[in-house]
Amino acid sequence: MTTPTRIVSTQKVTMPGRLHEVGSLQEQIDALRLEGERMISQAASSSELNDVEVRYLGRKGKVTELLRNVGQLPSEQRPEFGQRANELRGSLQERLAEKRRMIRIEEHDRRIREEAVDVTLPGQLYRLGRRHLLSTTIEDVKRIFIGMGYEVAESPEVEQYRYNFDALNYPEDHPAMDEQMSFYITDDILLRTQTTAVQGRIFENREPPLRIMTIGRCFRYEAVDATHSHTFHQVDCFAVDEGISMADLKGTLARFAREMFGPETRVRFRPDFFPFVEPGAEVAVSCIMCRGGGCNLCKSSGWLELGGAGMIHPSILERFGHDSEKYTGFAFGLGIERMPMLKHAIDDLRLFLENDLRFLGQF
Ligand code: FA5
Repeated sequence: MTTPTRIVSTQKVTMPGRLHEVGSLQEQIDALRLEGERMISQAASSSELNDVEVRYLGRKGKVTELLRNVGQLPSEQRPEFGQRANELRGSLQERLAEKRRMIRIEEHDRRIREEAVDVTLPGQLYRLGRRHLLSTTIEDVKRIFIGMGYEVAESPEVEQYRYNFDALNYPEDHPAMDEQMSFYITDDILLRTQTTAVQGRIFENREPPLRIMTIGRCFRYEAVDATHSHTFHQVDCFAVDEGISMADLKGTLARFAREMFGPETRVRFRPDFFPFVEPGAEVAVSCIMCRGGGCNLCKSSGWLELGGAGMIHPSILERFGHDSEKYTGFAFGLGIERMPMLKHAIDDLRLFLENDLRFLGQF
């Protein structure tokens, strides 16, 4: 590096906009060198260094300006000042390059430090979602009945009184309706109490042979306890064709029970009353825990109730214009909540709706 030399001259040099003495030009070179070197060494990042470069060596930078002014000196002084100013530019460029190298190394090291992964730390546990036990049960039920040739029908949750009760032979004020207290929207519209309401909707539009299944939410105005809720799910199936008998009903439910609860499962039918079937039956399956021997789950009876069933009442077929001499049919309706309760010995259906992941995460 050249040591700054004081060049003394009394001659005045005209610089753009103001007058400079030649001596002060050398002072300017020295001052710019000190200032430039200080700024370079103080720059803490690439962007700060870029700013310094622009300020001193850019098109309008201080050193560039100085070089431009050299042209205005008397011709005998130009070479020397030109050389000194060029030397200043070269020296600042070198320092800038050196500093840039250092900053790059520092920035690289800092990034490595910040992005470093400590592979010895324990991993983060991500909780995977899963489908609700009632949803998987509904899918299992659908799969089994579709496999037996049933067609899935949609049926509204907000239902007309005539489909929920009239079409199913409930005379007004019939005691059987006491079990099906409803949430009424108007006198004629209510939240359905049973998926059996689908029958009238299908019978008025379709001709036998029919194999229909519907599945979904039902609502009853009743006190909530371990086995009853105001909102629950049912599946209803019915088949209408020539020559359908109680044997078909029993065979269908026996096959369903074996697929759902295991090959050893047996089905029991006991007489029961529903106004839309004749004869009517209560359907139960042999207890999954004790296989019929008697345990807490089945309250020592060996059997667990699943729903109701029977042969479709001929008056219903006739009401919708289907010849009950030619066609017969069976129907059954089962509680969905009951199925996982029996399968996993769950003793309270409120657990399904409480959203407690400790419970739901088990299935
Ligand atoms: C009926 O709802 C009839 N529709 C079933 C039927 C269909 C019979 C076709 C004949 C032919 P029941 O009210 O018993 O029947 O209900 C059937 C099943 O739904 C019950 O065994 C039970 O598993 C379930 N269930 C009924 N009420 C509730 C409730 N409040 N909470 C939870 N599950 C219920």
